[in-house]
Amino acid sequence: MKGLFISFEGTEGSGKTSIIKEVEKHFLNKGLQVLTTREPGGIRISEKIRDILLDKDHLEMDARTEALLFAASRRQHLVEKIRPALNHGKLILCDRFVDSSLVYQGIARKLGIDEVMQINQFAIENTFPELTIFVDVRPEVGLKRVFDTLNREVNRLDLEKLEFHKMIYQGYMDLISKYPDRIRRIDGERSIDDVSKEAIALIESLI
Ligand code: TMP
Repeated sequence: MKGLFISFEGTEGSGKTSIIKEVEKHFLNKGLQVLTTREPGGIRISEKIRDILLDKDHLEMDARTEALLFAASRRQHLVEKIRPALNHGKLILCDRFVDSSLVYQGIARKLGIDEVMQINQFAIENTFPELTIFVDVRPEVGLKRVFDTLNREVNRLDLEKLEFHKMIYQGYMDLISKYPDRIRRIDGERSIDDVSKEAIALIESLI
């Protein structure tokens, strides 16, 4: 039996990580074998690449280098974790996948969606998720959720952050119209329970 590969996408504060936990619980209770993972995915080599990507000292990192490193980390994650799980018939719930690169590197870093897709195709060789669930929370609402847990005044950088997040959000909207069959939008501005139920129903329709 072949597995099922699902990815989740969203902007900051979309709550996708909590949704994934609920979805995982549901399918584990139903007796399915579930692999919950996130990029870079706990693979030794990908963790090292992640450290390079997230190191605050690496201010000189070029945007293409960044895109290539995300793609390299994705490749290793795919080969070591996702493909073996698919071959074992597992349900894979992946927090972010190729669409994050298309939006963050392609649009926010202005490298272009097609260019970023090209290097990612080299990395993933057409292993796309069967379904990508975009947890739709408007940027203002998502950032408010983040700030509310920060417990401090909103500053100038935070406002710049809002512009950045609007760009990311718009990027996801563009991707949804580019890949309407693969990417499904669900309204994330509801309770975790309601959002999770919709995600579960979408996945169940594929099982
Ligand atoms: P997270 O907030 O979901 O943990 O994601 C970590 C950050 O990395 C988030 O700001 C999005 C960013 N990212 C990219 O820029 N490109 C990618 O390909 C991935 C997977 C994440």
